[in-house]
Amino acid sequence: MFAFKPSNFGVVKRAFSSSAAANAAKVAVLGAAGGIGQPLSLLLKHNKLISHLSLYDIVNTPGVAADISHINTASKVTGYVPDNDGLKLTLSDSDIIVIPAGVPRKPGMTRDDLFYTNAGIVKELAEAAAQYAPKAIMAVISNPVNSTVPIVSEVYKKHNIYDPRRIIGITTLDVVRASRFVSELKGTDPSNEKITVVGGHSGVTIIPLLSQSGHSFTDEELKTLTHRIQFGGDEVVKAKAGTGSATLSMAYAASCFVDSLLRALVKGEKGIIEPSYVKSNLFSSDNIDYFASNVELGTEGVAKVHPLGKLSAYEKELLSAALPELKKNIAKGADFVVSGK
Ligand code: NAD
Ligand code: LMR
Repeated sequence: MFAFKPSNFGVVKRAFSSSAAANAAKVAVLGAAGGIGQPLSLLLKHNKLISHLSLYDIVNTPGVAADISHINTASKVTGYVPDNDGLKLTLSDSDIIVIPAGVPRKPGMTRDDLFYTNAGIVKELAEAAAQYAPKAIMAVISNPVNSTVPIVSEVYKKHNIYDPRRIIGITTLDVVRASRFVSELKGTDPSNEKITVVGGHSGVTIIPLLSQSGHSFTDEELKTLTHRIQFGGDEVVKAKAGTGSATLSMAYAASCFVDSLLRALVKGEKGIIEPSYVKSNLFSSDNIDYFASNVELGTEGVAKVHPLGKLSAYEKELLSAALPELKKNIAKGADFVVSGK
């Protein structure tokens, strides 16, 4: 999953969807001119499973699209702004929609502090997706992911097109970070590490399952590693000193995730698993409807939500701390659409 090797992207074997493209998919990136959007679009231009890379932003998209379109890979690239039905043209016939639109954090902010700005943006884009590409798989990057995924779900319910398999919050960056941090400590090749990270995507809701990593850690190592994985985003926000949050590592993580999704969708590959934040019954008895865990991807998006497996006593404590926060974040997202609060 993590080794991004464009040369490894296989020759496409079979068609997937209603997309006009015969053997590859149309992927739309909304927020494509931003800090994540630009490098993500660049990485996706290398993906042979994409026939049409459809870029949208409220500003600068034509320039980004013109630039990327000169790269000598086969996919077509288009770029739109809101004028002249831009969003409709961007979304129509899309198989996958990726949303990195929205404001990033500055030092001292939590992801929840972004809620009111980004909730409105994600809601508006989800409304358009419901109208113009109701069958597309929606992959959400915009923070706070714990709340923006419920926002998309509630918008889709209002439009009577809700299918929980088709709405996914991208938490791959937590897995990428965890794998890198563990490899730094253990002196292993990071591309061979795959640490499962579950829960949500903010602070204490990020739960790395280090007991399942195949490594042993001292209590001190466990605490330090867990804290670094939970607050890895803050490390970048602090280092960027007011100019934004993780963009390049996020673009890398999202391109890995989208590649996995494409392999499941376009090639029909089985057994592709990515930890992701999705509608989940794992904690429905606690009235928690969304949770990140290992998710098997398939032709409709989510094929199977895997259980957490055996947790250590420490991980059970982390889970207890995460659940109430997650519950609050989910309710806040859903209420924003349902009752307009
Ligand atoms: P950025 O400000 O650099 O880019 C955001 C882009 O969104 C801008 O180009 C902006 O014009 C565009 N935009 C704003 N409103 C829009 C709308 N209505 N329609 C289309 N485009 C719109 O920010 P960034 O650094 O790229 O981060 C984007 C989001 O991703 C933030 O919310 C950030 O917190 C989040 N993020 C999530 C993860 C994750 O792991 N899921 C990781 C990093 C960042
Ligand atoms: C991250 O984990 O890097 C992102 O969610 C951005 C942030 O605000 O930290």
